[in-house]
Amino acid sequence: MPFVWDASFTTGSTEIDRQHRRLFEQVAALDSAMKQGKGRQEIGAILDFLGEYVVKHFADEERLMEETRCPAAAANQQAHAKFLSTYAELRSRFDRAGGAAALVLEIHDVLSKWLVGHIRGIDTRLRECIGKAAPSAACAVR
Ligand SMILES: [Fe+2]
Repeated sequence: MPFVWDASFTTGSTEIDRQHRRLFEQVAALDSAMKQGKGRQEIGAILDFLGEYVVKHFADEERLMEETRCPAAAANQQAHAKFLSTYAELRSRFDRAGGAAALVLEIHDVLSKWLVGHIRGIDTRLRECIGKAAPSAACAVR
């Protein structure tokens, strides 16, 4: 599956789209490392980056959904919490056993499938909310 950004991933927020692209870049970096036989070497750094970055990204995105009264806000929070527990489980397996090829491949597949499904299924619902919330003063009005 080619893992490239296209218009189907846009959320209506330049900042959230930028953060999503950075997440895509991590999967692309892992993909190319695996193709060069270096997945095992790179996976630790990628997991380190993701562990910090997704927490910030999720917080930014959840705040924006709250501010724009997006109906997908609760589902988004739940999906993020579920992803964080999946991440923690993969991370602990990596910490215990190292980056065996099968685990590197599994992490790559989990990340790429989750990002594509989650962004298209939930995050893109921001588009309609951001449109309705502008100008920002409208956010305060029920
Ligand atoms: Fe999200």
